[in-house]
Amino acid sequence: MAWFATPDDVTTRLGASGYLADHATATTTYLAGALEKPLLVEGPAGVGKTELAKAIARTTGAELVRLQCYEGLDEARALYEWNYKKQLLRIQAAGDQSWDATHDDIFTDEFLLTRPLLSAIRRTEPTVLLVDEVDKTDVEVEGLLLEVLSDFQVTIPELGTVVAVRRPLVVLTSNASRELSEALKRRCLYLHLDYPDQQRELEIVLSQVPDLEERIAEQLVATVARLRDLDLKKSPSIAESVDWARTLLALEVRELDDKAVDDTLGVVLKHASDHERAIRELRLRR
Ligand SMILES: Nc1ncnc2c1ncn2[C@@H]1O[C@H](COP(=O)(O)OP(=O)(O)O)[C@@H](O)[C@H]1O
Ligand SMILES: [Mg+2]
Repeated sequence: MAWFATPDDVTTRLGASGYLADHATATTTYLAGALEKPLLVEGPAGVGKTELAKAIARTTGAELVRLQCYEGLDEARALYEWNYKKQLLRIQAAGDQSWDATHDDIFTDEFLLTRPLLSAIRRTEPTVLLVDEVDKTDVEVEGLLLEVLSDFQVTIPELGTVVAVRRPLVVLTSNASRELSEALKRRCLYLHLDYPDQQRELEIVLSQVPDLEERIAEQLVATVARLRDLDLKKSPSIAESVDWARTLLALEVRELDDKAVDDTLGVVLKHASDHERAIRELRLRR
């Protein structure tokens, strides 16, 4: 299956599913499908990395298989593990059966617990494999990913090698909390996602909160852009802009003046020190 016809096709179809992609995003996404290469998306929190994978799945009708990475994630959680309890029951039930026969019995598909990587490889229907926040795992998991992503196959000693019948479209995301290995990067197409420009953010906000007055939305994205220029602990992301828009709509705010900002800034900034700083700087520059 061809995932997308052209980069423009990506823009149109992602747009229809609510994801507004810029040119670089559309082009790289197109190439990831056309070249069957994993796509590594790196950038700060809340710029639409995870949502990109979800939107690709939505718009292509593919199933999303998600591997959420975290510290301590291991092969048993990422790839597969044997269902020991069930195997034990089977052994007990086997009674006088020879060990060889029992052994052949308990290392079969029935006793295999497949985790996201193996599930994605085994699926025969179109699949988007999202390996989310890959920078949170240990380096060993990266090695595992490398194996899976280079050959799209998994070897299970007791069962043999499982080769993908249909390659999933793979999206890896990273907040760049650490450098990923060169080997992994080499396997992937790379996309750096950053905060959108004001025009695109305005479109995103209005597409998700269509009832918000355009003038307020403009004031909102301009304020958010100024907040991002401050050196805050945690800059507001697109998700926070959208939350702020919903808040302003719910409160029926007609003008984003100092009072409205004071009353609602907690939706956008989540650190007390950021909050004070922002209030001060926004006043000064008015
Ligand atoms: N290009 C975009 N078009 C539409 N919505 C977007 C876009 N980028 C981000 N968003 C919104 O921002 C939210 C946060 O994005 P998310 O993918 O969770 O961020 P990340 O994974 O980069 O931390 C999403 O739920 C989505 O509503
Ligand atoms: Mg994410």
